[in-house]
Amino acid sequence: MSEAVTTQPPSHRVLPHELPASLRDAGLTHWIREPLDDAVDRRRRIIMPPAAATMGTPASAYQGALLAEARHPDTVFMMGDNPALPTMPERPVLKDFFLLRFSPIARTHLLQSARVARENGLDEKVIMACLVHDIAIAGLLSANHGYWGAQMLGPYVDEEVAWAIEKHEALRYFPDESVGYTYPAAYIDFFGPDYTPPDYIRREHEAARRHRWYMTSRLITINDIYSFDPNVAVDFDDFEDVVGRNFRQPSEGLGFDGSPVAHMWRTMIWPNNFL
Ligand SMILES: [Fe+2]
Ligand SMILES: [Fe+2]
Repeated sequence: MSEAVTTQPPSHRVLPHELPASLRDAGLTHWIREPLDDAVDRRRRIIMPPAAATMGTPASAYQGALLAEARHPDTVFMMGDNPALPTMPERPVLKDFFLLRFSPIARTHLLQSARVARENGLDEKVIMACLVHDIAIAGLLSANHGYWGAQMLGPYVDEEVAWAIEKHEALRYFPDESVGYTYPAAYIDFFGPDYTPPDYIRREHEAARRHRWYMTSRLITINDIYSFDPNVAVDFDDFEDVVGRNFRQPSEGLGFDGSPVAHMWRTMIWPNNFL
């Protein structure tokens, strides 16, 4: 055995085969981060998946096993920066969430929607709305994403933009032939050809159609595309001017301005916090 190996400090690493069988069988070994050189205290960190992600799935049965793991020495739950994610600046701006948190698919979808809206010559409010319309899917929660998105953006965008983002969720299911909007082909793949939206979504759609801002929301759905030109790269900076005029960036940074929705932004900064 080489000297380099024998002089290594004792490792706290727990190999996957040493974890309880229940965690291994559930594929939850990935929820446990081994101590890394970039972890300040070199302790193992356990990520407890949030209830919204595991309810109704086998993973929800392993809460107890993960809690038991945290009782081991040199093992704690994840709080603060997860070394697997890029560190966010102290005072994050909207662009930081796009570049450091959102997946390439989500980021591209938002940027491409905004690009198409701009190419269609639409108002800046619509371009801004398209740029952030699925921000909740990108960074927080998919279910009810229009509502989560509208709420987290509410303090920073025009009321009409937030309203349009909230309502696009319901309007997506309903064609409007007068403006050439048809039921999305992607939804047939997602939900099957026989899917019918629930009553509350129907009611939301009917009310939104009578609202004076209906067309703003409808324009989000028209520019909400998945089939864009893969050869066209879109950069967040292409929208710097639109964001500058249509998004009120708090000087303290998103997540730290004491707004009623700051916690939503903090959840995207530290998505793996135990509490
Ligand atoms: Fe959406
Ligand atoms: Fe979308």
